[in-house]
Amino acid sequence: MCGIVGYVGRKENALHVLIEGLKTLEYRGYDSAGVAYLDKNNINIIKEKGKIVNLENKLNLDTKSSLGIGHTRWATHGEPNEINSHPHKVGKITIVHNGIIENYEELKNILKQSGYTFKSETDTEIACALIDKLYSEKNDIIKVLDKCADLLRGSYALGILIDDDLNTLYAIRKDSPLIVALGDNENYIASDVPAILKYTNKYILLENNEVAKLTNNNVTVFKNGKIINKDINTFEWNVEAAMKNGYDHFMLKEIHEQPKVIYDTVSTFFNNGIDSLIEKMPDFKKYNKIHIVACGSAYHTGLTGKSLIERYADIPVDVEIASEYRYKKLFLDEKSLVIIISQSGETADSIAALRIANDNNIDTLAIVNVVGSSIAREAKYVLYTKAGCEIAVATTKAYSAQVAMLALIAFNIAYTKGFISNSNEFMNELNNLVNKMNHLLDNIDEYLEVAKEIYQVEHVFFLGRGIDYSLAMEGSLKLKEISYIHSEAYAAGELKHGTISLIEKDTPVIAIVTDEKIAEKTISNIKEVKARGAKVILITTEKLNKVGDYYDYKLVVPNTYILVQSLLTILPLQIIAYEVAKLRGCDIDKPRNLAKSVTVE
Ligand code: M6R
Repeated sequence: MCGIVGYVGRKENALHVLIEGLKTLEYRGYDSAGVAYLDKNNINIIKEKGKIVNLENKLNLDTKSSLGIGHTRWATHGEPNEINSHPHKVGKITIVHNGIIENYEELKNILKQSGYTFKSETDTEIACALIDKLYSEKNDIIKVLDKCADLLRGSYALGILIDDDLNTLYAIRKDSPLIVALGDNENYIASDVPAILKYTNKYILLENNEVAKLTNNNVTVFKNGKIINKDINTFEWNVEAAMKNGYDHFMLKEIHEQPKVIYDTVSTFFNNGIDSLIEKMPDFKKYNKIHIVACGSAYHTGLTGKSLIERYADIPVDVEIASEYRYKKLFLDEKSLVIIISQSGETADSIAALRIANDNNIDTLAIVNVVGSSIAREAKYVLYTKAGCEIAVATTKAYSAQVAMLALIAFNIAYTKGFISNSNEFMNELNNLVNKMNHLLDNIDEYLEVAKEIYQVEHVFFLGRGIDYSLAMEGSLKLKEISYIHSEAYAAGELKHGTISLIEKDTPVIAIVTDEKIAEKTISNIKEVKARGAKVILITTEKLNKVGDYYDYKLVVPNTYILVQSLLTILPLQIIAYEVAKLRGCDIDKPRNLAKSVTVE
């Protein structure tokens, strides 16, 4: 969603920092961009619809400026055009905003009565006018921003400039991400790490309703009008992590990083054999029911986790889409655990679901990639995936890291319950798994052939049963989100209850068969679509690999320890989606209409 960058500093290169920073936040999704910067004692605002380069073309980047805020807007209120773009200025106040002000209509009416008029359709301009009104009454910006917590409903991260104080940048956040980063004679605000990583790796996490005041050599944080002490954190991720390193796209780079990511995520739990796995995870013994709540691909990892935990650890698991979960009746008690899965840790619906569980005193466990994110901070327990910085909107390495973490949880519970007695087999296979992943990623000719075969079609179907169905759902999402080909994933046995009517000659069907126990059943369903003319692309394992006349292409992945088999099976699905999108000339890392981190409801 929207991206924010702010700069105050002696180097006077505000415009460079803003534009470069916004470019690194492009992956968040946006449809217009703008900057406000200090230019000879005036705040100058330039904005433009479309890509950042359109904005850049309107700017003189050589302009010296010691203060500025920049923004990429993902439209929520009002179409993407120049007027609705941020920054907005009302009276003495200029702001950029990420989030949604829910009570903006109400506030707009009140402000109109005070004589304010509005140029844009945005909720942001209302927030800006409100701050201006309060500032004209109180003349104390810290008190005014404090007051915002009472008056603004919804979520917001704001970067704020005031005409009366052109050496200072202000910021406030509630339920939308914002960090304050600390440089040498310069300080920054940003929606996400990559925007400032080039300049510093020191940062402060703002909690809800804290106000930050930044000058070139000082950062002060206020809560309820009082100065508070904040910890200074250090980013683990480096600049290279936010660069393509020779790959055509971030997505491809991130696909190839998966073996390392899996190793990093899993190995920290085994530094002292199985004992460290048990020590480093919550004690699952007290739970007799688990809810997994997440969105998008993270929801799919939840479905994979459900198969593993139910089958190997014998605990019932419900998996829910977070935006549904937050409004449904919940049947939870003190023996229930709610697991929230999120790469960003900032997904609005997932945060809301987490809060509902917390408010009901239900134990919560977050599986999160971004350290210090809202979900990580608010959950009772947190397990960090080690996927590093994921830039491509379509998740790959964070998805796999989540699957690996769920496999560890299933293993932990199964082992402590005595269902699995030998931990060596799993630990030994982890090294082999990394090699097998690398080997698959180095040998993708057959995947390219499949991509060439299907890239011009309009519809693709994905089939699987059980755990393979959860992989089919992820494969389908990957394909549609980046290639814009319509696709559907079906539980293999369900197709004949309606959808099989869509199968005609040469309709591509990608069928996944990795589970020995139900392989024959799925193969029967594949034969049903083959008989109706489907072009079948079978993805199976070495163990289940057999000759047959029910497929047109066969992609075989090696077998591995059963709990982590999905980490190999997902690779052809990711690569095929990527190659299809590439053949179609799509904007792979930044698909249309999508945002990396969905911070609104
Ligand atoms: O940051 P999160 O894991 O909470 O994001 C959840 C979804 O928005 C995300 O997985 C989305 O579906 C992916 N971009 C799909 O590739």
